[in-house]
Amino acid sequence: MPGVGGRGCSRGLILWFFITNILLLLYYITHSAHMTIRSSQEPTCLPSLAKSQPNATEPFQSGEEKCSPKVNVMFLKTHKTASSTILNILFRFGEKHRLRFAFPDGRNDFLYPSSFQCSQVKDYRPGECFNIICNHMRFDRGEVAKLLPPDAVYVSILRDPADLFESSFHYYHRTIPSTWRIRGNDQLAQFLEHPQRFYHPGAFNSFYLKNLLFFDFGLDNNLEADDPRVTTAIHNLSKQLDLVLIAEYFEESLILLKDVMCWTMEDILYFKLNMRKSSSVSQLTSDLKAKALQWNGADWKLYQHFNATFWARVEAFGRERMKEEVEELRRRNGQMKVTCIEGGGAVEARNIQDKRFLPWQPVGDSSILGYNLRKTIDPKFRTICEKMLTPELQYLSELGVNLWVTRLWGWIKGVPFRMRW
Ligand SMILES: *[C@@H]1O[C@H](CO)[C@@H](O)[C@H](O)[C@H]1NC(C)=O
Ligand SMILES: *[C@@H]1O[C@H](CO)[C@@H](O)[C@H](O)[C@H]1NC(C)=O
Ligand SMILES: *[C@@H]1O[C@H](CO)[C@@H](O)[C@H](O)[C@H]1NC(C)=O
Repeated sequence: MPGVGGRGCSRGLILWFFITNILLLLYYITHSAHMTIRSSQEPTCLPSLAKSQPNATEPFQSGEEKCSPKVNVMFLKTHKTASSTILNILFRFGEKHRLRFAFPDGRNDFLYPSSFQCSQVKDYRPGECFNIICNHMRFDRGEVAKLLPPDAVYVSILRDPADLFESSFHYYHRTIPSTWRIRGNDQLAQFLEHPQRFYHPGAFNSFYLKNLLFFDFGLDNNLEADDPRVTTAIHNLSKQLDLVLIAEYFEESLILLKDVMCWTMEDILYFKLNMRKSSSVSQLTSDLKAKALQWNGADWKLYQHFNATFWARVEAFGRERMKEEVEELRRRNGQMKVTCIEGGGAVEARNIQDKRFLPWQPVGDSSILGYNLRKTIDPKFRTICEKMLTPELQYLSELGVNLWVTRLWGWIKGVPFRMRW
C-alpha cells in the first residue's frame, strides 16, 4: 500500500466500514417494500406471455448439424474467475439479438451476498420472462427459474481454488475486518498459517476467505471437505447446471459454450477483461498452495468434480476438433487485437485515455488493467471493438442499468485513501 500510513489507513478503513454499513442499511430500508414481496408463490415465467420475444434468429450450420442459436441463458457469475470476460460476450450477444436481460436495480449485483430473489430484478413483474441473467448473485436455482423459460441453459465457471483464494484475498482483504489485524508484509501467508486465528464464520464479508465458490453457488461455505453434505451438494449442483466452464481452460470453455448454445465463433471473440497486472499477483509457493486448497477443501472437491466432467465433455466433443477450433478462436482474437487495441495489449489504468474503458478497481489499489482503443480504426470495426473493450460497469450503464449504489460505493471506498490522515 504505497503512500498510506498504517494507523491513518486503519482509521480510514473503520470510517469506510461504518459508512458502508449505514448505506447498506439505508438501501435495505428504501427497498424494504420491494423485499417484502416474498416470491415463493409467484408464478414462473410463462413464455407465451413474454412481452418482448427476441427476433427469430436464423438457423445456421454448426459442425455437422443444423441448430438454432439458443437465446435463454443463466450465467452464474462467480468471483475472480475470468467471469467479467464472459459477461462481455453475453452483453454483446444479447444486444445483437435484442434479448431481454434480467438486470439488478441501482447496482451491478443482486444484493450480493444476500441470496438471489427474483423480486431483486429491475422491472420484475410475476410471470414475466427474460432471456439472460448474468450479474453477480448468490445462486438460488428455484428463484432464477421463475424468470427464465424452461429451455434456458444454466452455465457457470470455476477456477483453481488456491489461485482463486489468492485473488480474492488480494482483491477483498481491505473490506474484511477480520484480516485487518494481520501484521507484516505477507498477510496471505500468515492467514494460511493460522486461519482459525483470524477467520470467524459469519463475520462481515468473511465468505470471501473460505470456499467462495461454494458460497456463490448458494451452499454452506463453512463445511469441511470430509463432510458428506459436501458431496451431496456437489451432486445436487451438477444436476442444476448444464455446463460448467473452467477458467484454466478458457478457450476450450468458450468452444464448449459455443457448441452448447449453437453460437458462432464471432459471438465468443473476446479480450481479457478485469485482468490484474502481473506484478500484483503473488505466485503461491507449493506449500501455500497446498494450505490454500486444504483451507478451501469444499471448493477443491467442487473444482475437481467439474474439471473431470469438463474433460469428459471435451472428449465427447472430439479432442482434434477442439484443438482446431481453439486455434481458430486464437487466430481471430489475434486479428481483433490488431484491429482494435492501441499497442496491441493491456495497459495500467493511469495510461487509459478514454474513461469509457477504465476498469473498476479494488479498495485502495489500482492493479486492474484495461485497454486503449486504436486511434485509427476501420469504421466497420469501430462498434464491435468498442463493445469488446467496454468494462462491465460502463456496459451495464449503456444497457440501461442505473448504478447509483455502485457508484456511491466507488466514491466512498476511495475516501480513506484520499484523506490520508
Ligand atoms: C428481425 O429480423 C429481420 C430479418 O431477419 C429484420 O428485418 C428485422 O428488422 C428484425 N427486427 C428487429 C426488431 O430486430
Ligand atoms: C439438494 O437439492 C434439493 C432440491 O433441489 C434440496 O431440497 C436439498 O436440500 C439439496 N441438498 C443439499 C445437500 O444441498
Ligand atoms: C483437470 O483435468 C485435466 C484433464 O484430465 C488434468 O490434466 C488436470 O490435472 C486436472 N486438474 C486438476 C486441478 O485436477
